[in-house]
Amino acid sequence: MGRAITRVAHAKLNLALAVTGKRDDGYHALRSVFARLDLADDVRVAPGRRLEVRNTADVGGEDIAARAVKALAAATGRAPHAFVRIRKRIPLAAGLGGGSSDAAATLRALAELWKVDVDLETIASQVGSDVPFFVHDASLAMVEGRGEIVRALPPAELHVVVVRPTLRLSTAAVFAELRMDERSADAHVTALEAALRAGRATAEFVRIHAENDLLPAAQRLCPAIASWREAAAARGVRLSLTGSGPTLFAVADDRADALRIARILRRAGLRARPYLASV
Ligand code: C5P
Repeated sequence: MGRAITRVAHAKLNLALAVTGKRDDGYHALRSVFARLDLADDVRVAPGRRLEVRNTADVGGEDIAARAVKALAAATGRAPHAFVRIRKRIPLAAGLGGGSSDAAATLRALAELWKVDVDLETIASQVGSDVPFFVHDASLAMVEGRGEIVRALPPAELHVVVVRPTLRLSTAAVFAELRMDERSADAHVTALEAALRAGRATAEFVRIHAENDLLPAAQRLCPAIASWREAAAARGVRLSLTGSGPTLFAVADDRADALRIARILRRAGLRARPYLASV
């Protein structure tokens, strides 16, 4: 069977996200600060005689990890044969990047097993917009373009509370719902990037700049997002959107504050859990 490689595939949060334009290829141009989260899937990759992906969750349709195997095989002239096992903990279609992270872990593990030296970030961008961030292996990064431009930022320990609805939202549907006038100047992203780069981003600073241009579109498709945010705001907690949602998060001052916020949100009926971001 040969050896196997197991990788931890972290979730991500978009601390801030701006949609800056629409590209000729139909995708939207983004500027976003990505942070890795201490919530992760396990991905095990082994050589195989065919392509098989087993996932503890039902992803419906072809697993993005299978697309990753095929993309690396095509780029290196090999047969797309591998055995991938994914132990899913990151909720699906939640805005937490779980599938993209699994795909990146698969690419990295397979490149090691096959001993191929290729530009994984270019291959990653063909697999999915968020995959290059995970391949880059930075705990915190500025991501631009369609997601293919990734620049690491200095790590900053951030305590957050993640509100994890059971609903799913399709990224494509949210982008399709976005109105031209909802694109912002990207001042919130630029300010956050500068503060993180200079190591002077306090929790309060991150909280204020944690804005996401996809929020109005996500709320139109999933009106519950507005109700959850209002319920939290009435209790003094500001909830921001990650990715295309529907997952929301609050930025806490420290671990004790995160526990306090999670308690408040749970009392309001929300599924809230404290996590560390930028891990
Ligand atoms: O690349 P990925 O498969 O993650 O994107 C899913 C869908 O989200 C795309 O088909 C596209 O409709 C939309 N999208 C976009 N602009 C981006 C990323 C995604 O329009 N930067």
